[in-house]
Amino acid sequence: METQNQNGAEAPIKVSTLNCIDLSNPDIHHSVPLLKQACLDCGFFYVVNHGISQEFMEEVFAQSKNFFHLPLNEKKELLRNEKHRGYTPVLDELLDPDNQVHVGDYKEGYYIGVEVPEDDPDSEKPFYGPNVWPADGVLPGWRQTMEKFHYEALEVAKAIARVIALALDLEVDFFDRPEMLGKPIATLRLLHYEGQISDPSKGIYGAGAHSDYGLITLLATDDVMGLQICKDKDAKPRKWEYVAPIKGAFIINLGDMLERWSNCIFKSTLHRVLGNGQERYSVAYFVEPSHDCLVECLPTCKSEKNPPKFPPIRCGTYLTQRYKDTHAELSVYNKHHT
Ligand code: OGA
Ligand code: NI
Repeated sequence: METQNQNGAEAPIKVSTLNCIDLSNPDIHHSVPLLKQACLDCGFFYVVNHGISQEFMEEVFAQSKNFFHLPLNEKKELLRNEKHRGYTPVLDELLDPDNQVHVGDYKEGYYIGVEVPEDDPDSEKPFYGPNVWPADGVLPGWRQTMEKFHYEALEVAKAIARVIALALDLEVDFFDRPEMLGKPIATLRLLHYEGQISDPSKGIYGAGAHSDYGLITLLATDDVMGLQICKDKDAKPRKWEYVAPIKGAFIINLGDMLERWSNCIFKSTLHRVLGNGQERYSVAYFVEPSHDCLVECLPTCKSEKNPPKFPPIRCGTYLTQRYKDTHAELSVYNKHHT
């Protein structure tokens, strides 16, 4: 367990300076090196002028609050299913078992994926299927808001993936191909941290240390600080830096699949959330390629001297394993559910 005090008894926790990519800037000679440097350094950066209006983001946060304000028994009607859609209660997720003893994350969440109807043959595959939605009339306009955000965030993700492709010396549309983001696994996750004060010395976190699993994650947060990154996971003790929210920006981070694709040239960085006693809301959008996509070392990231560090793996197989490692078995819901 970590001995470091939450407030940094030894040294105050600094606020990270991250590069900022303007997605509306057509001058790729400017954005590609800026993004590349961020990906080589820590895989975290900001994106502004992404095309999703501030007004709409406020609506998404307002609707997210409306959901989490529902009575617990109503939220439990919508519990996460085997397709990873729906409500995840507090302590459902255990991201960092070495440091989180007997408890999970002090956050509740709601997963919304790409809507694949039950009669579509793809719905046989893990992570594809219909969503779970609150009953009509409970939260007016809720589904429409979330579906619109899901759609718009995917467009933003594709625009970022084009800059990433260029930074990796690939064709600009490398990630646009059908097996990549043509039929993505993309998950919108609403998050609510209830206002617990985290205490790393006791293993209590809003979200335990982890790296994300996929290609990239888009994160929007309210203005409560809490997110921290650790650029060197092998340092002892680990050094954490805050990532400050910027109004109107997404915080983007690279996931482990991109680290595999790029043979660890691009970094997926350890991060966590510490609660400071204030309630906090965030909206994460996890972007992965299609279920059947083979994630293997990119041609531009290997050489005789630098052979692939990982064997190729199917996206669906990899994700299934990662979710199993970090989430409660669905059967625990039956025990608690009345
Ligand atoms: C995540 C995550 C950070 C946050 O959900 O993977 O890192 O600020 N969230 O909620
Ligand atoms: Ni994360």
